[in-house]
Amino acid sequence: MRESVSIVKQDYLTSSWEKKYDGIICNPPYFKFHDYDNAYYISDVNRRLDTRLNGFTNIYTLFLLKSIHQLKERGRLAYIIPSEFMNSDYGVEVKRTLVESNVLKHVVIVDFNECAFDDALTTASILLCEKNERVESVRFSVVKDVSCLESCLDECKSYKPSELDVNVKWKQYYEPTNASKFRNLVPFNLFAKVTRGIATGANEYFTFNRAKSEAFNIPKGCLLPCICHVQDVRTAVFTEGDFRMLADANKNVYLFDGHASEEDAWVKRYLELGRQHGYDKRYLTASRTPWYSIENRPAAPIWVSVFNRRGLRFVRNEANVRNLTTFHCVYTKGVVDTDILFAYLLTSVAQQIFLDNSRQYGNGLVKFEPNDLNKGMVVDLTLLNKDEKDFVKSIYDLIRQQGDRTIELVGQLDAFFLKKYTDKV
Ligand SMILES: C[S@@+](CC[C@H](N)C(=O)[O-])C[C@H]1O[C@@H](n2cnc3c(N)ncnc32)[C@H](O)[C@@H]1O
Repeated sequence: MRESVSIVKQDYLTSSWEKKYDGIICNPPYFKFHDYDNAYYISDVNRRLDTRLNGFTNIYTLFLLKSIHQLKERGRLAYIIPSEFMNSDYGVEVKRTLVESNVLKHVVIVDFNECAFDDALTTASILLCEKNERVESVRFSVVKDVSCLESCLDECKSYKPSELDVNVKWKQYYEPTNASKFRNLVPFNLFAKVTRGIATGANEYFTFNRAKSEAFNIPKGCLLPCICHVQDVRTAVFTEGDFRMLADANKNVYLFDGHASEEDAWVKRYLELGRQHGYDKRYLTASRTPWYSIENRPAAPIWVSVFNRRGLRFVRNEANVRNLTTFHCVYTKGVVDTDILFAYLLTSVAQQIFLDNSRQYGNGLVKFEPNDLNKGMVVDLTLLNKDEKDFVKSIYDLIRQQGDRTIELVGQLDAFFLKKYTDKV
């Protein structure tokens, strides 16, 4: 029996949105926003699908979103499109739709030596989607040669949809990792646990400098030494002397702990002032009992800065003071010497390997949530012999003494760890 086939020649974007299909295969046009009537088409798609695609959206993503909408239950879709959307700002909304609709099953990144499209486009990707209720994994494969197209489907990296962050560049989910250049790596959480710093919910109320503490007569026992601003810490090793200097310079380096002396008349007065200004009704304070209690986060031996352009910045907290969310706390587990672990963390070897787990934003910012670090890998420092440990410690001592002139010393550590953890045994 011959199947009846009907061929329709029509503008796909203005054709019926109600029709649903069992299968959609598409190689859509790839017009940049200025090469088609973007104002009309993009707002039409946004209105129909309740999306927030911006005006820079390439037409191929409109085709894709419409097709996802037109899939029947258990229907399947295959699209070949440039990979650009995965790593660009306009692609965020597309990635969101793919993940939230739970249709995305497999992304094949076509990275042939010869360009699959015109010169302006770098790589292409094939998206394989299926509409069903099952929460599965999303797989990424990279194919370098057309003859490997089929076999590449088995060699893939797999993620739960909940693990895919639509705001970051997706190339981190399919590009080769830095970790693969090293041997003998272990999870960082074997040696340490990273948590976020203390969140007060009202820093202007809870943080104190010396002048403010004198003005309000707050007893010393209610003021916890605490780093509140990342720029107050300039060196890799933060000492008691550094803390004293900040306190003497009237920097905000104390955290108000009203709980420590609730019966003190001055503390009562400051708490009353807090209530009068509504600090007890803030989002975080309102969820605490009492509202002015401070999160139980002891001083961490190592801090790491949260969000910057130069990669991770670790600081050894020798002053034993607490920290607000400006840093994450790194609590060591006693498996390896803290100074040795810290010396390793200063190196670009550590940075490179951690980068595999970073969130890279379109604007060049790199962000690490505590769990990105907890799940990151580090070299297995338990494999260092006594001489090697002594060497690393001796460099740490020099770094301690030399304040901020540490580039050369960190270079020596880098060379050491690079050799130890890349050389074949
Ligand atoms: C990348 S080409 C793919 C051609 C063909 N599918 C193939 O694989 O050789 C994209 C095609 O989409 C067509 N096209 C452009 N805008 C369209 C629209 N609004 N509706 C339907 N087709 C369109 C173009 O004319 C072009 O033939």
